[in-house]
Amino acid sequence: AMPKQVKIVEVGPRDGLQNEKSPVSTEVKLAFIDQLADAGLSVIEATAFVSPKWVPQMADHTEVMRGLKRRPGVRYPVLVPNMQGYEAARAAGADEIAVFAAASEAFSQKNINCSIAESLARFAPVVEAARRNGVAVRGYVSCVLGCPYQGEVPLADVVRVAKALYDMGCYEVSLGDTIGVGTPEKARQMIAAVSAAVPVAQLGAHFHDTWGQALANIYAVLEMGVATIDSSAAGLGGCPYAKGASGNVATEDVVYMLDGLGIQTGVDLEKLAAAGRFINGQLGKALASKAATALAAR
Ligand code: HMG
Ligand code: MG
Repeated sequence: AMPKQVKIVEVGPRDGLQNEKSPVSTEVKLAFIDQLADAGLSVIEATAFVSPKWVPQMADHTEVMRGLKRRPGVRYPVLVPNMQGYEAARAAGADEIAVFAAASEAFSQKNINCSIAESLARFAPVVEAARRNGVAVRGYVSCVLGCPYQGEVPLADVVRVAKALYDMGCYEVSLGDTIGVGTPEKARQMIAAVSAAVPVAQLGAHFHDTWGQALANIYAVLEMGVATIDSSAAGLGGCPYAKGASGNVATEDVVYMLDGLGIQTGVDLEKLAAAGRFINGQLGKALASKAATALAAR
């Protein structure tokens, strides 16, 4: 059955910006994050404690965390690839993190320079330290519906990595269609397979819209009981290590669809669209979100 309420995980400040070539100042990122919180988003992935040599746009992670105007009821998780990132994130005040693995061996190598097994071995002490520190940990699995290097990704690999992250102590596992190649029936089968190993209430869906399938895929997984959806304001986003992958599904489009379905999100679409226009303007981009475009034309 369809959920009555959906938690949106806004990944714009992280996934949305990580692939942008033109530098975005820390002040602009902080203003963007605050506008997203003001729009009612309760989980905003703020930045990534990854190597600045690999992802220059996230190099100001410490300044972003130190500058956050934290609002009650809003969580600001950050991406962490290893113990070094965890320690830096904690020192900067992060109280929730996300570790990120892949279901594809080739993508794991390109993205984090190690095998899937090595990445899980790196995450174990991070999750253990987080548990001791009372820090909640989310887990990501990339390439759940296809890989830019390997092509097809067996469902068994998706299930295995999702289960490993869950068993390690991740409270939620976000399943990423990194390159946006999935279609609804494949998304449904993927959720059916993974939810045999990880409770569906602990699953999130993370769709990129490269092939225009994201909303259809989201509808399909909502019908499977998935109630956590990752999205990016203004449809920004893309992974530097996934060539040709376009933005995340736009949060504006997700909220418009969920509003129409009578599913609660707590998000004010007008305020969200304003936040999306703000960051788009800073980047000098045209609006990628259909809903935001329609709103702007009213
Ligand atoms: P590496 O080069 O293998 O790391 O990178 P290393 O351990 O060999 O260390 C080499 C250097 O990196 C050393 O510095 C370390 O200090 C430094 P040097 O001595 O040469 O000066 N280093 C670090 N610096 C800052 N922060 C750290 C860190 N760790 C080591 N945490 C590493 C391995 C994982 C660091 C690198 O590959 C990396 O940063 N990758 C980032 C990948 C990334 O951010 N990708 C995008 C996010 S994932 C995504 O978008 C998918 C998702 O949205 C879901 C979906 O769509 O599917 C989540
Ligand atoms: Mg992504």
